Amino acid sequence: MIEIIRVKDYETMSLYAARLVAAQVRLVPDSVLGLATGSTPLGMYRELVRQHREEGLDFSQVTTINLDEYCGLPGTNEQSYRYYMDSNFFSKINIDPDLTFIPDGMTTDIDACCEMYDELIDFLGGTDIQVLGVGENGHIAFNEPHGYCFTAKTHKAELTENTMEVNSRFFDDPAEIPRYAISMGMRGIMSSKCFLIMISGAQKADAGYGLLRGEVTPRCPVSILQLHPNVKLIVTDDAFGKIKD
Ligand code: F6R
Repeated sequence: MIEIIRVKDYETMSLYAARLVAAQVRLVPDSVLGLATGSTPLGMYRELVRQHREEGLDFSQVTTINLDEYCGLPGTNEQSYRYYMDSNFFSKINIDPDLTFIPDGMTTDIDACCEMYDELIDFLGGTDIQVLGVGENGHIAFNEPHGYCFTAKTHKAELTENTMEVNSRFFDDPAEIPRYAISMGMRGIMSSKCFLIMISGAQKADAGYGLLRGEVTPRCPVSILQLHPNVKLIVTDDAFGKIKD
């Protein structure tokens, strides 16, 4: 079931999302949070940091598992997802760094790294809440659109031209844009007890349509969420206006 929460703008979406995550952490202090990077959740992280600083929101018992990481970028590289999480969120709250998990983009054994990540997800019993953004092409994590099947396991994903083009805004030199990422697969993602997916901007309307109206197909990976019983979509007017048509 997908519950639709329509909001006027990015700021309202971020506040709403942060409230839901904060409620989860207050109710279950040792929650396992599934987290995403990218532009979409930045406002949510800002608000969670504010709640930590001003309202004492406590992350000391929380565990986090991120969806993905670029291959070949160390955590010290500003474009890596480890760097993003540390600088935008983890370093600003009282989380135990040892309980923040992100695939190791510098691993020399990708297969073992992927296998360990899936074992970790199983060990933790899946995530309590999974925060998601969506790519313009409908990808979630780096499960890119395919003609044939959903990928179940954590895997090395080849980014599509569209994803690399969208990501190019973060890289000075196009040659530096990673072609590959380690991405959680659909089994790990769908093991979450509930989803919080945020969609904002007219450029995401097609992906939103795929989530709400399209058929469930690996050609639009986000559509798999139609099969999950507990999904909250927070969508801004500019994206929703086009989904409706
Ligand atoms: C990031 C991730 C990606 C992004 C998606 C949208 O961890 O898994 O699937 O959620 O590419 O990115 P933004 O939010 O930058 O539009």
